[in-house]
Amino acid sequence: MKTRAVRLYGKNDLRIEEFELPAIKDDEILAKIVTNSVCMSDHKAVEQGSDHKRVPKDIDKNPVILGHEFCGEIVEVGKKWKNQFKVGNKFSIQPALNYKGSLDAPGYSYQYIGGDATYIVIPSEVMELNCLLPYKGEAFFLGSLAEPVSCIVGTYHAMYHTKNGSYVHHMGIKEGGNVAILAGVGPMGLGAIDYAIHADRKPGLVVVTDIDEARLKRAASLYSVEEAAKEGVRLVYLNTKESVHPAQALLELTHNVGYDDVFVMAPVAPLVEQADTILGRDGCLNFFAGPNRTDFKATINFYNVHYASTHIVGTSGGNTEDMSESLTMMEQGKLNPSSMITHIGGLDAVPETVINLPSIPGGKKLMYTHYTLPLTAIADFEEKGKKDPFFKVLDEITKRHNGLWSLEAEQYLMKHAPKH
Ligand SMILES: NC(=O)c1ccc[n+]([C@@H]2O[C@H](COP(=O)([O-])OP(=O)(O)OC[C@H]3O[C@@H](n4cnc5c(N)ncnc54)[C@H](O)[C@@H]3O)[C@@H](O)[C@H]2O)c1
Repeated sequence: MKTRAVRLYGKNDLRIEEFELPAIKDDEILAKIVTNSVCMSDHKAVEQGSDHKRVPKDIDKNPVILGHEFCGEIVEVGKKWKNQFKVGNKFSIQPALNYKGSLDAPGYSYQYIGGDATYIVIPSEVMELNCLLPYKGEAFFLGSLAEPVSCIVGTYHAMYHTKNGSYVHHMGIKEGGNVAILAGVGPMGLGAIDYAIHADRKPGLVVVTDIDEARLKRAASLYSVEEAAKEGVRLVYLNTKESVHPAQALLELTHNVGYDDVFVMAPVAPLVEQADTILGRDGCLNFFAGPNRTDFKATINFYNVHYASTHIVGTSGGNTEDMSESLTMMEQGKLNPSSMITHIGGLDAVPETVINLPSIPGGKKLMYTHYTLPLTAIADFEEKGKKDPFFKVLDEITKRHNGLWSLEAEQYLMKHAPKH
């Protein structure tokens, strides 16, 4: 089977190539990729090349396929997995395999599996570790988003609380408690709001802060105060840009009791300190944002650690159960991470998008790997549609869906976009 893929040969050396995949062995699976969403980790891997922990040393001779947020369909199943997986089934994968202590992961370390491809060979270890996850939803792009969503699901599960006189950690956010999501209207913050409102265990109050008014407005239109109220959650959006005492404003919203669960979604030291200041008794601070600097530090009140049982957690990525929970909640329509997507493109747009990712504004970039499409912002569909009927229709569809990417838009794209 021929595949067309984006392969990494060295630092910022990405090439789109067509080549023959090896025939699958009895313990392997051949699959078609439909969507792959771009992650900042792709950019880091491409920038660092073989210096990256997950990227092999010999990529100049044995290049790897990029991309780890993907969804597709199974094409051929090796003998060993015939009872478990069927041709035509949709799937997603949990890329953090942790196979025999190795950091190797699809999208960073493998020659024949990665999301930026038309076809891939899934190696046995992915199935052995239960990391090949069936997906029963209709929209492929939601299957791709299961990976970033699983990071959010995982981080909610990592929160914990204690009871006076007991050493048991009760996992999860406090039911009916006060949640703050600081720097919370980037794509991951939106996912965190969605989960806070729609997961079974709900807080009573969710306060979302940011300093970007346009993003705050978009968030408030996607996850409205009224919708949250229907779920029994009081949702408040707060722009802290002009605030002289943001921590005080945040505390007042809790009648100065403080927050049980605080998520920090940007790696900014004063924000970590703000989070620490607003913690209530037994408050849990979650440092979700991944800093670039290895010496990132912030000041923490240790008086409160001692006398008020405040504490800190941090997670990077989710696990397979978090992926399954994300997929199930999306299949059931409880979570809708469409709001994370701000751009779409084809396989040919991947190299430039990944290399320039930090300077491209917006949220997630979603790629349809069987098509030739430039990276295009959903917000630009209207303008492009003036000359191109394809984007005109996509604009009409997204407008019908509150400005969001949707199953309808995906199906239209897959029928009408130019294939390579
Ligand atoms: N833990 C994980 O598993 C995991 C997974 C994916 C991403 N991440 C990290 O999560 C973070 C959030 O991701 P994202 O894609 O939403 O990022 P983003 O950069 O798009 O969003 C961050 C938001 O922070 C706001 N902000 C910045 N400084 C602020 C300040 N001082 N006060 C208030 N708001 C401020 C920005 O306006 C922006 O809206 C990133 O650091 C990312 O690397 C972590």
